[in-house]
Amino acid sequence: NNMLTWQRTGFHFQPEKNWMNDPNGPMFYNGYYHIFYQYNPDGPIWGDKIVWGHAASKDMVEWIHLPVAMVADHWYDENGVWSGSATVLPDGQVILLYTGSSNESVQFQNLAYPANLSDPLLIDWVKYPNNPVLGPPPGIKSNDFRDPTTAWKTSAGKWRITIGSKAHRTGLAFVYETEDFKSYQILSGALHAVHGTGMWECVDLFPVAVGSEDGLDSSTNGGGVKHVMKVSLDDDRHDYYAIGTYNEATNAWVPDDPTIDVGIGIRYDYGKFYASKSFYDQNKKRRILWGWVPESDTENVDIMKGWASLQSLPRTLVLDQKTRTNLLQWPVEEIDSLRLDCKEFNRLRVEPGSVIPLAVKSASQADIVAEFEIDKAAMEATPGSDQEFTCASSGGAAQLGTLGPFGLLVLADHRRIEQTSVHFYISKARDGSLKTSFCTDRSRSSKADDVDKQIYGAFVPVLEGEKLSMRILVDHSIVEGFAQGGRTCITSRVYPTRAIYDDAQVFLFNNATEASLVASVKIWPMRSMSINSNTEDHGNR
Ligand code: FRU
Repeated sequence: NNMLTWQRTGFHFQPEKNWMNDPNGPMFYNGYYHIFYQYNPDGPIWGDKIVWGHAASKDMVEWIHLPVAMVADHWYDENGVWSGSATVLPDGQVILLYTGSSNESVQFQNLAYPANLSDPLLIDWVKYPNNPVLGPPPGIKSNDFRDPTTAWKTSAGKWRITIGSKAHRTGLAFVYETEDFKSYQILSGALHAVHGTGMWECVDLFPVAVGSEDGLDSSTNGGGVKHVMKVSLDDDRHDYYAIGTYNEATNAWVPDDPTIDVGIGIRYDYGKFYASKSFYDQNKKRRILWGWVPESDTENVDIMKGWASLQSLPRTLVLDQKTRTNLLQWPVEEIDSLRLDCKEFNRLRVEPGSVIPLAVKSASQADIVAEFEIDKAAMEATPGSDQEFTCASSGGAAQLGTLGPFGLLVLADHRRIEQTSVHFYISKARDGSLKTSFCTDRSRSSKADDVDKQIYGAFVPVLEGEKLSMRILVDHSIVEGFAQGGRTCITSRVYPTRAIYDDAQVFLFNNATEASLVASVKIWPMRSMSINSNTEDHGNR
């Protein structure tokens, strides 16, 4: 449908057509970044014959779409080749472990490997003849056992993986040990369990360095290392992480702060972002996170347009060395290479109640960085209040408050009939303490009425002396917002009908009644990634 082609993105990863969900088996191997993904070759909705789509890239900017890597062709994965992970072994072998939904919908774990390691693109994959390698453990429902992680190596030289599950309403993860990835031993006790969180999908467990921004290989443990655990909650469709410690001897992961345990505390993203997976990039010594960004429109519209879902921009993940209580997520530096000529707006004064257009030719594909300084005297003079603020229950960008909202309107047409607001809101308590929220207001993002327009947002830590800052990546139907260097992130799907192409503009606004702002903004229009289909050279299977 021509009317909807503007929703296609310029610099986000998406297949040419049809349905996509989770990122699978991301890795860097022999000069190429690989991404696999849950893909339905038969149409734009999820189906019971999900396969592994595959693409490779030297820089995560120019992608080569490759033939499907694995299809549902054995009894143990007849109902779908589901999510899984890659492990690059020290000797150069590559291991894929994935969940097969069997002919009877039992969730089995399976092993696959490249048919030809000297093929630079690793196009052909072989399933191990003695699959499945693992079935659900006793006492666990046969369809509550899926999504094996990348393996990590213990000090005794054995490999371990973890797999999400649930027992009644308790989400938990099992750990298995193996030497050859063919036979496995379950370790006693769970890696971790959290009451009331339901099924844990796509568990991730990885080390982060304390005191350094270097990424760490999945097998790193010991002094100066924290372990992050992530779970995707099937019930509420969000990815939660927590920072803690992994003890190899007891095989238990323990959160630093049990009140913000995994599944009940911090989220990677407060918008649409699910089933994410990280990998260690040995090429640039960093950890990179990919996440599935579903649609917020209806299935009927997806059928009309012939495709559904995006992958988020790949994000580097580091421990926030200043707070040590959260991660920082930031688009990989390669994305900066898509920036075109920068338009700079320096130290603009934004009075209470004002909206200032930031004229650009088009900001339907844009990278925007903004910094805000709030009038200090006004902030101090403002009386505190006991009223709790949350983005979701607020009146969004249009609500007037003493110290907010203020920020940017993107995907806004010249008359602002449509606009998506990415903004801050500062709440001042009676005791004078300040709390900053980071919000995305989609309530006026589209004239269409069959799309979700919920307001997203969450608290963002702001330390003494820090300016408020945000980065926003706009790409037609997706807006990714990163506050305070990536402490809090919000990914939104939006469907403007007029704020498209050259009518997609940017405005600064300040709806704080008591404080003026000084704002500096940089806007880079973004060129498109090139996406090449390699299926002709290699046979479209
Ligand atoms: C998460 C998930 C996984 C499963 C896959 C199936 O979105 O449900 O648990 O492996 O998708 O497509």
